Amino acid sequence: MSNRKDCSGCQNPYTPQMARIIRILPQIQDHQLFQIQFEDQQLVKSFTYRPGQFVMLSVIGTGEAPFSISSSPTHAGVIELCVRRIGHVTDALFKLAPNTMVGIRGPYGNGFPIEQLEGNNILLIAGGLGMAPLRSLLNYVLDNRSKFKDVILMYGARNPEEMLFKYELLNLIDLADVKCLLTVDKDESKTWKAYTGVVTNLFEHVDINPAQTYAAICGPEIMFKFVLEKLLQRNFPKDRILMSLERNMQCGVGKCGHCMIGCKYTCLDGPIFTYWDAINLPEMI
Ligand SMILES: Cc1cc2nc3c(=O)[nH]c(=O)nc-3n(C[C@H](O)[C@H](O)[C@H](O)COP(=O)(O)OP(=O)(O)OC[C@H]3O[C@@H](n4cnc5c(N)ncnc54)[C@H](O)[C@@H]3O)c2cc1C
Ligand code: FES
Repeated sequence: MSNRKDCSGCQNPYTPQMARIIRILPQIQDHQLFQIQFEDQQLVKSFTYRPGQFVMLSVIGTGEAPFSISSSPTHAGVIELCVRRIGHVTDALFKLAPNTMVGIRGPYGNGFPIEQLEGNNILLIAGGLGMAPLRSLLNYVLDNRSKFKDVILMYGARNPEEMLFKYELLNLIDLADVKCLLTVDKDESKTWKAYTGVVTNLFEHVDINPAQTYAAICGPEIMFKFVLEKLLQRNFPKDRILMSLERNMQCGVGKCGHCMIGCKYTCLDGPIFTYWDAINLPEMI
């Protein structure tokens, strides 16, 4: 489902709304979580989104870039973006202090089909920064726990120092509401108490009924290949595999064509696609 409404409510789709960085929480190296609140109090109350949607954030005088919303719509008032410093805009963003204004437009993209997911088991599989959009879905599901069956998270990072939201996720390990499986490729410090090995090894620890489960995947491209192999070996229906994909984006609103894959606009028709969509558009993954 495309979401073509935006927060600006005005004619020009490129006009951002002013928002304030209220808190910056350092994560791992070169990754920070930005808590952002709109200046317009009406918008603070009315702004909502689906897990899996993204916003365009502008650093005034520098430029803008798309970022997945990492918070859950069940926590209204503040949006959280987990950002990796990689280039022009993110460099400038990392130089800002709390209380600085930025521009936000959106939310954009389709997001996860949450109503369709209700009544099913939810299997979330993330690698690296892929946890950013999946954290929104995870927290949404946990806040609406009775609407879903089993909830399983498999998350892999290179090492314990590179695991995003580490303490938040470690706190989930002992909860009965979710089976939280965390793994790192390597643990040279020998301090890691959860699993070691690639994320696909975690499939050994779960018993999944594909006909009653939706899998949501986000991570580096190489991870998709191996995770898809595992899911298909288990006869996962292709329309029950949901992938959050990133493409180079400029406008976010279906005007510039930068994000097109075949006849699809990633910014409107995605960034969440089913595996079924992907096999019909081979250049998608
Ligand atoms: C829907 C969507 C959601 C995103 N969510 C997040 C998020 O939650 N957190 C986050 O840190 N980043 C996210 N990104 C990626 C982020 O938008 C880019 O890294 C962006 O280019 C950063 O802007 P910049 O000006 O700092 O980097 P630039 O100076 O534009 O680029 C730095 C380098 O990254 C490359 N690049 C740019 N865009 C992408 C891309 N989409 N995929 C791969 N390489 C790219 C460029 O080619 C260049 O080599 C998302 C992208 C999309 C499309
Ligand atoms: S980003 Fe411009 S059309 Fe999608």
